[in-house]
Formats: sequence, structure tokens, C-alpha cells
Amino acid sequence: MKTYRIAVIGGDGIGPEVTREAMKILRRAALSSGQLDFEFTELPWGCTYFLKTGRMMPEDGLLQLCGFDAILLGAVGDPRVPDNVSLHGLLLAIRRGFDQYVNLRPITLLRGAQTPLRNARREDINMTFVRENSEGEYAGVGGRMYAGRPEEFAMQTGVFSRRGTERIIRYAFELARRRGQSVTSISKGNALNHSMVFWDEVFRGVAAQYPDVAAHSMLVDAAAMMMVTHPERFEVVVASNLFGDILTDLGAAIAGGIGLAAGANLNPERLYPSMFEPIHGSAPDIAGQGIANPMAAIWSASQILDFFGHEDLGAGVLRAMEQVLCEQKTLTPDLGGSASTAQVGDAVAAALDAILH
Ligand code: NAD
Ligand code: IPM
Ligand code: MN
Repeated sequence: MKTYRIAVIGGDGIGPEVTREAMKILRRAALSSGQLDFEFTELPWGCTYFLKTGRMMPEDGLLQLCGFDAILLGAVGDPRVPDNVSLHGLLLAIRRGFDQYVNLRPITLLRGAQTPLRNARREDINMTFVRENSEGEYAGVGGRMYAGRPEEFAMQTGVFSRRGTERIIRYAFELARRRGQSVTSISKGNALNHSMVFWDEVFRGVAAQYPDVAAHSMLVDAAAMMMVTHPERFEVVVASNLFGDILTDLGAAIAGGIGLAAGANLNPERLYPSMFEPIHGSAPDIAGQGIANPMAAIWSASQILDFFGHEDLGAGVLRAMEQVLCEQKTLTPDLGGSASTAQVGDAVAAALDAILH
């Protein structure tokens, strides 16, 4: 029996509340299947740790994480610490440090989940975002000068390398080919005349190597509109770091809400551990009340199972979530219910038991 070692960084706000339920589901999947086991190591890193130590994680944090098979992350961010400090000190440091260059975000309307789009059919909302996760607008290159003076300026440069652009686009085409789907590239080549013109060139070059995969390119502003008016248009979508960030929050909204959306930060070569997380933040407005929706974190648990090759179990977790969504008896307030975080976790676990037995 294979035992997977998972580092759990609950983080801040609702992070620890939702990762607890994701662990519950992974334990249950392991127990029911009898094929695998999980060993969790909880690491108390985040903003509370920062307020005590001046660091978001220990100096050798990445080295400690290196020994694990995967990382389960809750959320990072606390009103007492500037967001750029907390995110660059932990989440972004891990994504970049472990070359997790693929941010895989499924935008699928689960059975039982409600879309705010009046005319969309359930099967219309089924896309997979492949977000570049290591460079682009998030490269952190730039600076500020002449603080406080009239001539003060800030400069932030996007970094689009050939290697970085090509590998993310290639990943999208490989995924689309396996699934028999199309690829849509998100661009802004009309205005960003250096970076996005380069992105488009690389896209065309890679697309030419996949003549069997339908390839489309769409400007990001039009894509935002089309996701609302014609979501069925999108299958595999490849986007730069910032465009992918923004469009996947929109995607979460059309697929039932931010409480349902998950994302995997993958190092496809498996040289480093990959990291799995809900795409929502620490939600300080509802933290500590036990009412956060754990479904997004549970979906990331399903992605962990997929990543380790247990796709049957990963699919089982999604079916269990759908069952709880369809029954509409045990839902958190964001989905119109009055259940607690733990009650939803228990309901999904019970549904999973029934599915796997
Ligand atoms: P947020 O996702 O934390 O919250 C946005 C809104 O959605 C809030 O009203 C919140 O209550 C609600 N919400 C989010 N997750 C929910 C859940 N699971 N169940 C029910 N409701 C939920 O985004 P924000 O308010 O922009 O950011 C708050 C903090 O989180 C900031 O510090 C930000 O930098 C950080 N952040 C972290 C991550 C991450 O760690 N991956 C992602 C986004 C934002
Ligand atoms: C996300 C988040 C992060 C991002 C923030 C918190 C840095 O919004 O994972 O979508 O922009 O990548
Ligand atoms: Mn985001």
C-alpha cells in the first residue's frame, strides 16, 4: 500500500477551517479504497507565524516541503499583514520556488450547483483553465523611485520567456489532445505590443505542431464577455498569469461561486511537490465562524487523488460533492444553506462512503 506524505499549510482565516475538511475526505477516500494511505504534517505557517517571527515560513521552508509528495494549502492573507508581504512570502514563493508553472483550474458546473447565467445549460460550463503560474505579469520585476515626490513612479514589468510561454501552451495542447478538445489562447496583442504579440507568435508555433487540435485565440476583454454569453465556446483555455487569475474568478462565479472552485499548482515533471488549494482567499469577513464552504478545498483533494493516478477516487469525490449539492440539505450560507463547514465535510464524506462501497 502506498502512503502519500502531504504537507498541510492551513494558513490564515478560513484556510485551516477548509483544509480540515479536505483532509477528512482524503482520509475517507483512502480508508474506503484500501489502496492507499495519507500521512498529514500540519505546518503552522502564515500570517500568525509572521507576526511572531517576521517570516511567513521558516528560512528553510522550501527545503522542508521538498520531502513531501504534495502540499495542501488553505489560504494566505490577514488584514494585519500587507497582502504583498504575505503572498510573496508564502504562496508565490512556493509556486515559483517549486517551478509549479501550471495552474490547472477546472471551471465545471457540478450537478446541483447553480449558475447565475440565465440561459446556460449545465453542459455549457465545462472548461479547464491552464494558467501560466511562474512568470508573466507576476514576475516581480520592477521598482519604485522618488518616493513621495511629484516625479515618483512605479514600474512593474511582465516577463515572458520563450521557455515559459512555450511550455504552458504545450501543456494546454497535450491536455486538449488527450481529451479531444479545443484550445483557446487568451491574449491582448492589440494593446500589449511586446509581450502579447510574442505570446501569440509562440501560440501559433505550438499550434502548428498539433494540427489535430482546434486552436483559437481571443482577446481577454472579449473572452470575459464570451464566458458570460457563450461559455460553451471554451474547452481548454491557456492564459498568462494575471489574465488567468482574473478570468478564473469569473469562471468560479459562473460555475456556482467562489466557494466551489479549486486549482492545482503543478510541477508536471514532478521534480518538486505540487500544491493544491481552493482558489478563494482567507475570507477574513467570515473567518472563525465555522461557515466557510469547504467544497473548493474538497475539490482540491479530488485533484490530489487525480494527480497521484487515482482518478477513480478523484471522480468519486466530485460525485459525492454533486450528491450533497443536489440534495440541498447540507449547504453553507454562501449556497443558501445553514450548515457548518464541518457538517458539509461530513455529508460529503458519507456520500463518498456510499459511492465507494
Ligand atoms: P476571498 O476569496 O478571501 O473572499 C471574497 C469573498 O468571497 C468574501 O466575501 C468571502 O467571504 C467569500 N468567500 C471566499 N471563500 C469562501 C468560502 N470558502 N465559503 C464562503 N464564502 C467564501 O478574497 P478577498 O476578500 O479578495 O481576499 C481576502 C484575503 O485573501 C486577502 O488577504 C487576499 O490577498 C487573500 N487571498 C489569498 C488567496 C490564496 O491564498 N490563494 C487567494 C485570494 C485572495
Ligand atoms: C489566486 C490568488 C493569488 C494569485 C493571489 C492571492 C496572489 O488570487 O490564487 O488566484 O493572484 O495568484
Ligand atoms: Mn485569484
